[in-house]
Amino acid sequence: MAEANQEQQRFWNEHAGPTWVRWQDALDRQIRPHGDLALEALAPAPGESVLDVGCGCGDTSLELARRVGDKGAVLGVDLSAPMLERARARAVEAGMPQLRFEQVDAQSGELGAAAFDALFSRFGVMFFEDAPSAFGNLARALRPGGRLAFVCWQPPSENPWVTVPMAAVAPLLTLPPPPVRMRRACSVWRTRSGSARCSRARGSRPSPWRAGASR
Ligand SMILES: C[S@@+](CC[C@H](N)C(=O)[O-])C[C@H]1O[C@@H](n2cnc3c(N)ncnc32)[C@H](O)[C@@H]1O
Repeated sequence: MAEANQEQQRFWNEHAGPTWVRWQDALDRQIRPHGDLALEALAPAPGESVLDVGCGCGDTSLELARRVGDKGAVLGVDLSAPMLERARARAVEAGMPQLRFEQVDAQSGELGAAAFDALFSRFGVMFFEDAPSAFGNLARALRPGGRLAFVCWQPPSENPWVTVPMAAVAPLLTLPPPPVRMRRACSVWRTRSGSARCSRARGSRPSPWRAGASR
C-alpha cells in the first residue's frame, strides 16, 4: 500500500480495527440510521457501479450491493485488514458476487478513472492526512455527472457527546497526543503539568482535543 496515512494504517490495523470487528454487530446497529439517510440520498439504482470508501466491516457495502443487484458492482476499499476480512466473510455468507473488497488507501490508491457511477461513505472519509488530495483521487474515480453521498462528523462544538466526557476526564488523565495531522491544528497539546491542552490555530479546523482538554 502507499505511504500516505501511515498513522491511520497502524491505528485501523492494530487497534481500532480488531476492536471494531469484535463489536461489529453493535456498532452497525448504532450507526446504521446515519448511513441509511446517506443511502437514501445516494439512491443507488440496479446495474450501477458504486465505491464504498472506508467500508470497514462492509455493512453499507452489503446494502449497496443489494440495491445495485447482480447486474451492478460494488467495491469496498479500506486500510484495515481485519475489518476487510470480516467484510469478505459477510459477502460470502450473503452470496453476493457483485461485491468485492480491496485493501487500498482511498487518498492515494489506484481506484480507476471514471470507474464508478456513485461514491458512498459512512464515516470513512474523515481520516485523510490530505483531504483535498484524497477527494481529488475520489473525483477521478467518479464518472462525469456521478453522485457522492457520505456521513461524517460535524465540528466538536456540535458534538457534546464527545466533548462533555473529554472535559470530565481531562483533569484526571494524561490524554494521548492528537493524531499527527491534527497536531498542526493545535497550538499546545501538553502542558508542564502533563495534562493535555489544545487550542485551535488561526484558520485551522477545530480539534476534538480542544474542547475536552483546554483549561
Ligand atoms: C469509523 S470507521 C467506519 C467503517 C464503516 N464505513 C462503517 O460505517 O462501519 C472508518 C473506516 O475508515 C477507514 N479508513 C480510514 N482512512 C482510510 C483511508 N485513507 N483509505 C481507506 N479507508 C480508510 C478505516 O480503516 C475504518 O474502517
